[in-house]
Amino acid sequence: MTGIHFDQLMPDDRRRQKIFEGDIFIYSPSAASMSLCQLTRTLLTEAFGPHAAQTAQDFISPDDYVELLADLRPSYTSHPRVRSLIKETLIHLGLDSDDTYLKQPDLRAMTSGLLNAGPGLLLEAHRDTWYADPFSQINWWMPIFDYTTESGMEFYPDYFTKGIENDSEFYDLREWRASGMAQAAKRKERVAGDNSMAREKPNTSSDLRIVMPPGAIMLFSAAHLHATTPNTSRKTRFSIDFRTVNVQDVISGASADNVDTAARGSTLGDFSRLSDGSKLRPDKLKNKIEEV
Ligand SMILES: [Fe+2]
Repeated sequence: MTGIHFDQLMPDDRRRQKIFEGDIFIYSPSAASMSLCQLTRTLLTEAFGPHAAQTAQDFISPDDYVELLADLRPSYTSHPRVRSLIKETLIHLGLDSDDTYLKQPDLRAMTSGLLNAGPGLLLEAHRDTWYADPFSQINWWMPIFDYTTESGMEFYPDYFTKGIENDSEFYDLREWRASGMAQAAKRKERVAGDNSMAREKPNTSSDLRIVMPPGAIMLFSAAHLHATTPNTSRKTRFSIDFRTVNVQDVISGASADNVDTAARGSTLGDFSRLSDGSKLRPDKLKNKIEEV
């Protein structure tokens, strides 16, 4: 069973526990998330001008599109106002700024048929844990413009509690960072190894597609099997996503179950504290983890 909670405010500890059990939470736009949405639109308008961001794909070659995204995404990720608006969004939803750690946001552009590589790679069925993300991680996803069931993302909730054959055993975070990541960001064609993907096709007959207005936000476990929906809407779908962990979960081991992940390494060191930006140091937590 996957529960969908709409605008349900509850203590964050309880909400995280439900997310670790597979539930999904959706929140209507807030003042902070709408400001984030507006800022993102402004940056997209500047980057794609004179074209409208959602239809620029009809006027820009794949090569130029990749170059444009390769410039835009890092500047978006490091934009100070982006981080501060994410922080406001999280605090508004009841997260503790001392215990919550945030990983850098990512801006996604899923074109309708133009690109399936590099920054526009269509992510087939996967769990983020296959890429060495922690099981206590919560994923946040927010659309920037209207979209449809033909241009968003999809979940395969049946697989939250059952495994699927996958290549995560070949994923080593350190090796990926040493060699694969930089090349993949500039690729114009997809090559094997860009994704750690399911080896078998999941049964998609009960896939779940949630459509939300711009500025609304969705929370789900990093252990959910999910995918990019192939975009057939003729408009590029823009969304932002980011990830959080609560340090108390890291210490106590509260998390989703591992049903099939064998990736090596952990991205925990990429997270920084919401209140002061200090890095999460898993090595420093070791004693506390052993005490529990
Ligand atoms: Fe994902």
